[in-house]
Amino acid sequence: MLSTKELDEIRSHFPILDHEVNGKPLTYLDNAATTQKPTVMLERLEHFYNEENANIHRGVHALSQRATEEYESARQTIATFVGAADKKEIIFTRGATEAVNLVASCMGNSHLKAGDTVLITEMEHHANIVPWQLLRDRMGINLVAVGVHETGQLDMEDFYHKLEQHKPSLVAVVHVSNSLGIVNPIKKIIDAAHKLDIPVLIDGAQSIPHFPINVQELDCDFLVCSGHKIFGPTGIGVLYGKMSLLESFPPYQGGGDMIESVTIEKTIYKGPPERFEAGTPDISGAIALAAVLDFLSGYDRRRLLEHETALLEAATAGVQTIPGLRIIGTGEEKASVLSFVMENAHPHDIASFLDAEGIAIRSGHHCTQPLMIRLGLPGTARASFAFYNSQEDVDRLVNTLKKIQGFFS
Ligand code: ALA
Repeated sequence: MLSTKELDEIRSHFPILDHEVNGKPLTYLDNAATTQKPTVMLERLEHFYNEENANIHRGVHALSQRATEEYESARQTIATFVGAADKKEIIFTRGATEAVNLVASCMGNSHLKAGDTVLITEMEHHANIVPWQLLRDRMGINLVAVGVHETGQLDMEDFYHKLEQHKPSLVAVVHVSNSLGIVNPIKKIIDAAHKLDIPVLIDGAQSIPHFPINVQELDCDFLVCSGHKIFGPTGIGVLYGKMSLLESFPPYQGGGDMIESVTIEKTIYKGPPERFEAGTPDISGAIALAAVLDFLSGYDRRRLLEHETALLEAATAGVQTIPGLRIIGTGEEKASVLSFVMENAHPHDIASFLDAEGIAIRSGHHCTQPLMIRLGLPGTARASFAFYNSQEDVDRLVNTLKKIQGFFS
């Protein structure tokens, strides 16, 4: 774990962590839903609006050029952060959800035809299910899902089988399960799909906040992620796509900034990334996200991951001593998410009880209803850790859960 000194330094960047909730010190363990924000992000937003605010790509005046430079430099920061070969492969979206919708919409309008298959898994977030269902209902593609074991792990035999059987046009799979924290073997998935020339989309919303990702090493074709889950602002997300695929896509939305020229008869579109960024984007959000990634890169991210892993191990060991509590999701490799159910206590009751003590967790289906159905659960209680959490947070969680167990038994 990080030393007290190291942790104090990190926590000093996140003022909300010193707040009280319900008259108790805040223990924030809902990081899979959204993360807290470092002051560097707020300062960057303030600086932009106080000193740089203008629209981008549109003006010859100094402020517009400055804003454009900052926005495009943010694109480069993100490209470097995920290891993209070219910053033009980075498209700013509203979030991971919009990034999946963009790929679904563009593939539907170009690459896919009725009868083609998209292969997902039973553990996907709704954001990587519903866009494909919309496409299925609109144009008659097949949507097939790889099964999940009782443990919550992906059934890789089923994956290989369905890959061969359906020869899908795309594999779209989550890297880290938001509900269970299980890390999927995405390199194996990508390599197997590529042997059949099938492109792969990775939902990285829950992996990027925890460990470094390099899209070139993975050789994924698309990666989607959300700014707010990696300590950045809400309303900004990223789609990484291989240039050859992006170039083959038609526009996603129409509007200003994505065109070379427009007449009433005909429009010539720009290439990626502008082709996919119609209208004024979230300029300040992109810039603030880049500032947060620079901030994160200032730390040894391996050490941050070790700290999170130690927190997860301590919390897992702690809750295992509680009678009637069952951990859901027991993969070989897990990100710092602890999902559980407790005899006689509904997950919402557990979350409410914890909230009264200033401890924030999430309860419910976590936007993964098919996974919950597969596991035969209405939902779980989920504590999710970030690198700013402490052993004290773990102790408060475990001790309060012991009280809850006593109360409900
Ligand atoms: N996808 C987010 C979560 O897992 C909202 O909580």
